[in-house]
Formats: sequence, structure tokens, C-alpha cells
Amino acid sequence: MSTSTATIPRTAPFTEEDVALLNRVVGPASPIQRAWLAGFLAGVESVSGQAQPAAPARPAEPLTIVYASESGNCEKLANDMAKAARKNGLKPTLIDMADLDLAALGSAKRLVVIASTWGEGDPPARAVRAYGELMGEGAPRLDGVEFGVLALGDTAYAEFCAVGKKIDERLAALGGKRVVERVDCDLDFAAPAAAWIGDALKVLAPPEADRGRVIEVDFGKPAAAPNTDIVEAEIIEHVNLNSSRSDKETVHLALAFEGAAPAYEPGDSLDLYAENDPAYVDELLRLAGLSSEEALRAEFIKSRDVTTLSLKTVETYAAQTAHQYVKALIADGEAKAWIVGRQLIDLIATFPIALTADQLRALTRPLSPRAYSIASSRREVGDEAHLLISAVRYNSHGRARKGVASNYVAERLKRGGRVRVKLKPNKHFALPAADKDIIMVGPGTGVAPFRAFVQERRATQAIGRSWLFFGDRQFTHDFLYQLDWQEALKDGSLTRMDVAFSRDRPEKVYVQHKLWDQRRDLIEWLDGGANFYVCGDAKAMAKDVRATLVRAYADVKALSPEAAEQAVAGLERDKRYLQDTY
Ligand SMILES: Cc1cc2nc3c(=O)[nH]c(=O)nc-3n(C[C@H](O)[C@H](O)[C@H](O)COP(=O)(O)OP(=O)(O)OC[C@H]3O[C@@H](n4cnc5c(N)ncnc54)[C@H](O)[C@@H]3O)c2cc1C
Ligand SMILES: Cc1cc2nc3c(=O)[nH]c(=O)nc-3n(C[C@H](O)[C@H](O)[C@H](O)COP(=O)(O)O)c2cc1C
Repeated sequence: MSTSTATIPRTAPFTEEDVALLNRVVGPASPIQRAWLAGFLAGVESVSGQAQPAAPARPAEPLTIVYASESGNCEKLANDMAKAARKNGLKPTLIDMADLDLAALGSAKRLVVIASTWGEGDPPARAVRAYGELMGEGAPRLDGVEFGVLALGDTAYAEFCAVGKKIDERLAALGGKRVVERVDCDLDFAAPAAAWIGDALKVLAPPEADRGRVIEVDFGKPAAAPNTDIVEAEIIEHVNLNSSRSDKETVHLALAFEGAAPAYEPGDSLDLYAENDPAYVDELLRLAGLSSEEALRAEFIKSRDVTTLSLKTVETYAAQTAHQYVKALIADGEAKAWIVGRQLIDLIATFPIALTADQLRALTRPLSPRAYSIASSRREVGDEAHLLISAVRYNSHGRARKGVASNYVAERLKRGGRVRVKLKPNKHFALPAADKDIIMVGPGTGVAPFRAFVQERRATQAIGRSWLFFGDRQFTHDFLYQLDWQEALKDGSLTRMDVAFSRDRPEKVYVQHKLWDQRRDLIEWLDGGANFYVCGDAKAMAKDVRATLVRAYADVKALSPEAAEQAVAGLERDKRYLQDTY
């Protein structure tokens, strides 16, 4: 009897997750089990076709779904859409924009793009190459391609949904036929995105499908997926890792779960559900003339975003109050600049007017959870999860400001308290095979996932080498997890560590300077197949690190700047240059 294993091909009309699930069952099944399954499915089909002779099978119509995603929201929606599409007579092909071959787009009949915006109006890191090509002169014509775009973003950013908007414009400019209007979603995207997917499928489904009917979008998760429901955890450690003389506060939070911890992997994050600062809410209510509204106070502390000030908020305020100065701010085109560094409280304090509870509520959106990289490996800490959270504090426009979630953690959560979290898997920031080398660049809280990586490599006795670049302000006061790294260096789970403390000497030293100093070894590790990981600040650090690596290639290998850029782009294409930046 043959003992060969069956593999479901990636081209099968299932999502990637479903293919993995099927392979897990069908792959190791015995020939008898497989024969039974084949007979069973054939039987099901013939029974369902008994009442009427089955019409000749019509080949499903193709639908290409491209997603540009960083933290997984668009990817999840694209998967959900593919499932719904399959139920509606379409054969979806799901493509991560990271893997998009632009030339192939011209032959798509129907195209959906689901894209988020990052940085300050930038595409997600993995999508940068394909996005650049799409916007460039070499982009293919898309005459006759029916398309629709769903954009995800955050109204708190000036460049709200910029990437989705630009892709939508570009597809039309290349000759595509927009058959569904774009929808721009804010952080509470679930309902509008589901509605858009339903509407888009009504238009895109083949004519023989009943276009009038209600399209169901199944937002269930595949059976094999880990639990991503909100769960409550107990805080069993709450420690400030900075010294008392540091001007920073970075909290190490250890969470314990009733029963098993969510099945996280190194590289995943937890979404944390915070509450607002009661003192801030009290002042906001006082300014709005609503101090006596106890129920509103409780609701605002728990579940409304009472700090974000977007252009939309200013417009709503102007419409609600007819405040002359606010209307003038918008009419003069000055509102966009005015909101920079300001919060909702500034709007009401600067242009005071008594508001009703409903008016104030309409100026806010639901309070969103904040993501934190998991800083532990379950193989080392069991049913715990560790987070590393830096308290965001700054001054602007004469007011002391505090980040909502990080100060909820730093100032109001205590050991023994409870917090609500939800697993946010990130399969794009995972460890490679145990024999592969890894280079990790994680200044500040960017080091969090690398503590998980190192713990995992220790627990699995991985033989690949691990090299960490860490940086912060001062060696004495800000060396996060210093003892952990020393132990890891001793037991070999960390092979090498380079540190950059920016405020120890007159000249600033950052991780990118250390990368440059070590460029020869760095390129040698990369030539030997090492993966390169970057986590932390997206605004400056991640860009500087990438630019430094390009310069390192050029210098060590005597390459032209273009060839060096290609070398780094090659690492990205091969998924060996991996980022999780924020
Ligand atoms: C995938 C991912 C992983 C993350 N991992 C971690 C982690 O491990 N540890 C960690 O600490 N954080 C991490 N973050 C960031 C975290 O999610 C929050 O964004 C951060 O804690 C701030 O949230 P907050 O609610 O405290 O601040 P918010 O209330 O959201 O305020 C932050 C906002 O304040 C404004 N702001 C901040 N500083 C200034 C300034 N100096 N001047 C003017 N305006 C300013 C900006 O508009 C900023 O967006 C991660 C983010 C992502 C997306
Ligand atoms: C660091 C950071 C920068 C962001 N920048 C923008 C932005 O410039 N414009 C915008 O509309 N949304 C911005 N967003 C919001 C994301 O687009 C939004 O969270 C989206 O749901 C992410 O989808 P994804 O998980 O598929 O990447 C930003 C989010 C983060 C964390």
C-alpha cells in the first residue's frame, strides 16, 4: 500500500489558512482515510444534487484581492472577503502586496485592493516596492479591469487613508473601471468594512449570481486560528525598568491568565484596552458645561476616544455650534495646521460653548485598544505574557499631555489589578528555522519582541546565532532588561550585543551608528543567510537603519548606490528584512 502524503496545492480555491488546515488533516491521513473522505464528499455532492439534475458546473469567475497591510487588519479583511466571494460564485486569488507582480494585474478581470496607511501617509512597509511600481511610469494599463478599493486608516492622522485614496485614483488613471466607490474607514472599521465588502461582492459577483440578494460576510475565524477574543489578565509584575533618575518610565508588565494564555508566538502583539485619565475627562466635561453628567463621565472614561482631535472633529464642532471662529478656521484653510499637537480639550477650551451630552459624544469616536509587542516566549514563561510599555508624556501648546494607554498602565494599573487584552498575531515577524542566524535592531521598546525571540531560541536550543542592537538614552538609567541580556550572552542564546546610548556622550550615538561600525560582520552574517529584524520607532529610526544598511552594502561590497539598494530590496523580497515599527 502506498504511504505517500497528499498535499493540497496553494492554488486550491481556499484561503491560505484553510489550505494549511486541510493539509494538516489530509496530509498525514492514511490511504483508507483519504478514500473514505473522497467517497463521503462525493456522496454529499450527489445527495445535494438529487432533487434536480445538477446543471453543468460553471467555472467560478476570478476575483483578485490585493491587500497592503502592516498590522494585519487589511489582511484579515481580505481573507474574510475571499471567503464571502467563494460563496458568491467567485474564485478569489489573495495577494499580499509584498508579493504582487504588477505586470499580472493587467490580466485581472475583477480587482479589489484593501490598503492601510502608515507612517505619515506611507504604505505599509511590506508594500513599499509594489506601491512604488504602481505609482511609477512602468505600471501596466488596466483597461477593462473592474475594481474597487477599501481604505483603512485613522482620522487622527493628517494623511487619513492617503494610500487607499492614491491607489484608487491610480487604478482609474491606468484605465481601470471603478465599479464600487471607495470607502475610507477609521479605526472602528469592522462595520463599514463589512458593509463595503457586501456591497462590492454584489457588484462584482458574476451576472448569473443573484445580485439582488443580501451577501453574507462571514467574519468567523478559521478553526485552526488561535483565540483572538478579548480576555482578562491579572497583573503579576509591574516594574519600572528605568532608574529613578531617568526622565523616562518604561513598565515591564507580566500578565497571568485564568487557564491557558492566548496561544501567542514570538513576534505577536497584544491589543490592550485602556481607560482614560479621569482628571482629563473631568476637565473636558467642565469645559463643556457637563460636569454633573455622571453616566457620561463613566462612559467617557471607559469607552470613548476623548483626546484625538481630527479635522473631522473640528468640522463637526463647527456644524454643531455654528461657532464663528471655528467656522473661520475651516474657511481660511487653517484648521489642519491648528490641530497639530492639540487635543479635543483644546478645541473646547479655545472656542468655549456649552454642549449637550449628545453633541460632546458626537465629537468622539470609540476608544481603540493599543498594540504592545509581546516580550516573552510561552516556552519560557508558560501561561504568562510580558509587555514593555513606555509612558508617553510631552508638552504642547502650553499643556502637559499624557498618552492614554501607556499612562493608564504606568499610573493607574497596579500589581494584582486586571486588564483586558486581545492577541494580535503577526506571522510576518516570526523567527526563522532554528539553524538560521538572526540580527535584531530594537532600540527603546523596540527591544520587546527580541526578548521573546531570545527566550524562544533558548527554550528550543536553536543553534543559529543571534545578534542584538539595542539603544536608549543612558547606560546607567535606561538599559532595559540589562540582566536578561547578560544572562542570554552567558548561556549563548544571545551571541552578540551592541549598544548605543545617545545621551552618555556629547555626540549622539544611535543603533544605526553601531550598525555602521560593525558593517563588515553585518554583511558577512547577511551573506550567510541571516534574517534582519527591525522594531520600534517608524518615523526616524527604521528609515535610518535601512539607509545605513544600504550604505553598508555599498561600502563593504564596493557596490554602486543603486546596486546596494537592490541588495536590501532583495532581502525584503526574500522576507529576510522584517519590520514591526510604529
Ligand atoms: C504593532 C505595534 C507594536 C507596539 N509595541 C509597543 C511596545 O512594545 N511598547 C510600547 O511602549 N509601545 C508600543 N507600540 C505603541 C503603542 O501601541 C502606543 O501607540 C503607545 O503606547 C502610545 O499610546 P498611548 O495611548 O499611550 O498614547 P496616545 O494617547 O495614543 O497618544 C499618542 C499620540 O500622542 C502624540 N504625541 C506623542 N508624543 C508626542 C510629542 N512628543 N509631541 C507631540 N505629539 C506627541 C502623537 O500624536 C501620538 O500618536 C506599538 C504599536 C504598534 C502598532
Ligand atoms: C505608527 C502608525 C502610523 C499610522 N499612520 C497613519 C496615517 O498616516 N494615515 C492613516 O489614515 N492611518 C494611519 N495609521 C492607522 C492605520 O492605517 C490603521 O491602524 C489600519 O487599520 C492598519 O491596518 P493594517 O493592520 O492592515 O496595516 C497609522 C497607524 C500607526 C500605528
